[in-house]
Amino acid sequence: MKLIIYSVREAEKPYITAWAKKTGHEVKMVTEPLNDKTVELARNYDGISIQQTTKLGNAKLYAELAAMGIKQLSTRTVGVDMIDLDACKANKIVVTNVPVYSPRAIAEMGVTQAMYLLRRIGEFRERMDHGDFRWSDDLISDEIYNLTVGIVGLGNIGSATARIYKALGARVLAYDPFYNVEDEPYVEYTDFESVVKNADILTLHTPLLPSTENMIAAPQFKMMKNNAYLINMARGGLVNTSDLIIALEKHEIAGAGLDTLADETTFFSKKVSPDEVPGDYKRLVAMPNVLITPHIAFLTQTSIRNMVEISLSDVVSVVEGKHSRNEIRM
Ligand code: COI
Repeated sequence: MKLIIYSVREAEKPYITAWAKKTGHEVKMVTEPLNDKTVELARNYDGISIQQTTKLGNAKLYAELAAMGIKQLSTRTVGVDMIDLDACKANKIVVTNVPVYSPRAIAEMGVTQAMYLLRRIGEFRERMDHGDFRWSDDLISDEIYNLTVGIVGLGNIGSATARIYKALGARVLAYDPFYNVEDEPYVEYTDFESVVKNADILTLHTPLLPSTENMIAAPQFKMMKNNAYLINMARGGLVNTSDLIIALEKHEIAGAGLDTLADETTFFSKKVSPDEVPGDYKRLVAMPNVLITPHIAFLTQTSIRNMVEISLSDVVSVVEGKHSRNEIRM
């Protein structure tokens, strides 16, 4: 079978080459993402793997894929918000994701950011840059086992996050519309508002859907504790960035750890000049109680290997007419 894999990075190449050798399939590696300009490269291939946060394109792109005989799209990500699922359905294109390439990778990054903020490291560093090495009384921390963590979204990543915080001794509240008995020992299930109101660390692990877009905006910031930290390792669109900036400026919350931003696609994962960086980012990153990373929570060797191997194997399964358990219901 002939496969094409878009958005390939150097770190993925050894895993792709090894997979191709093991399975005997031919894999064409392309560094660009799939879009209106690069769609033509897929002609004469049997299946596609992608990995991008930018939208694939408009309805025409999906029709073009179908006209080329493409039957599936396999994304080497958990999130599928960059894909127009309605257009896929209309064109009989099956979509698969990689829901468990490494939930721990994302969970550990969220906890790392929360710890950094909680211990006021950014604020101490800012003072140290100005020669101030004092043990500042206004930067005294809390300790994690005395705190309540609120988790929104108890999928694979939320659930891994709950287990880490529980092991650290925190009280863990969680909201998810679906109940999972396996999470029972680690969390107290409650409603969304209670999680938002009671959390000292509010951590988001839910997909970006019309129903979750801007789920954390001005009303939620007003509900949150003034000493609470917001952690977003999921999708930028879950948080209203302008409202977040206001909440931080008004000290409605204590700080934020963000691996993702609503307008990240123009600059995250790219090298850009300072004038290409959006104003919201500049305002946030200048705050010592905000920690921003460029969508790298996933970036571990385990993740990269699993993303490549699971995605390519799913391409083969779907093209061969077998079902993959990673198919997205549409
Ligand atoms: C995902 O897997 O959904 C991610 O956010 C990481 C990906 C963009 C590489």
